[in-house]
Amino acid sequence: MRTLAIYSNKGGVGKTATAVNLSYLAAQAGVKTLICDLDPQSSATYYFRIKPKLNYGPKGFIKGGEKINKAIKGTDYKDLDLLPADFTLRHLEAAIYKFKHPKERLKKIIKLFEAEYDLIIFDCPVTISILADNIFHASEFILVPLIPTTLSVRTYRQLLAFCRKNNYDTGKIYAFFSMVDRRKNMHMELMAKMVKEYDGVLRSLIPYLSQIERMGIDRRPVAASAPESVASKAYRNLWVKFQKTALANKRF
Ligand SMILES: Nc1ncnc2c1ncn2[C@@H]1O[C@H](COP(=O)(O)OP(=O)(O)OP(=O)(O)O)[C@@H](O)[C@H]1O
Ligand SMILES: [Mg+2]
Repeated sequence: MRTLAIYSNKGGVGKTATAVNLSYLAAQAGVKTLICDLDPQSSATYYFRIKPKLNYGPKGFIKGGEKINKAIKGTDYKDLDLLPADFTLRHLEAAIYKFKHPKERLKKIIKLFEAEYDLIIFDCPVTISILADNIFHASEFILVPLIPTTLSVRTYRQLLAFCRKNNYDTGKIYAFFSMVDRRKNMHMELMAKMVKEYDGVLRSLIPYLSQIERMGIDRRPVAASAPESVASKAYRNLWVKFQKTALANKRF
């Protein structure tokens, strides 16, 4: 079972839009996929039209076991299931500390899904504390949406510094450009600079597109509702590029 986190320590950069579309594209290729919504905002859950009825709270979630297994819902798409989130997950970080080896709880609880799924995609909330440690331990790959702006790039550098300091393998961190506006010089210049500077920055971009914003109305991955759209093609390219690069690095 492969594990991929769509993660950033910056908010509103396109994590959920990416997690929803990549999980759909993986499933469409026959990869049995579980999208795991870790965010109390529960946006991924919303996009897949699922109303969670979680009866375990954050402590029950991080304890793992049959209860969370039962909470998994099928989506409208073949080979794609979802572990939903709800607002109670806002207490997740506090709950994690109550367990032994708190940094490895997530890694432990997803073992339950090994027989059932080929791929888990985590849709992550903004965090750089204990939940981030859990995400880094549990994930083989971290994919970071990077808006080509000064602050977003700065946050990415902070993330790499944090990982180096805490002995997390930075080789498993990949980034791609998100919400790109090719008419902006700054976007173009920063993208060129970042691909030169970092091996892990993929030559792949998702443009700023209203088709993607509309997912909030359609409540479907744009790759499903408009498979031939520019947005859908961009997510397909990203998925192919990510897999190729990870393969070339003998990692996928
Ligand atoms: N490429 C894009 N073009 C236009 N709008 C986008 C794009 N990607 C995401 N959006 C929109 O921007 C908003 C934030 O996107 P999204 O929820 O995916 O970000 P996020 O990083 O998951 O945010 P959060 O940190 O709150 O979880 C949403 O309204 C989404 O529809
Ligand atoms: Mg999100």
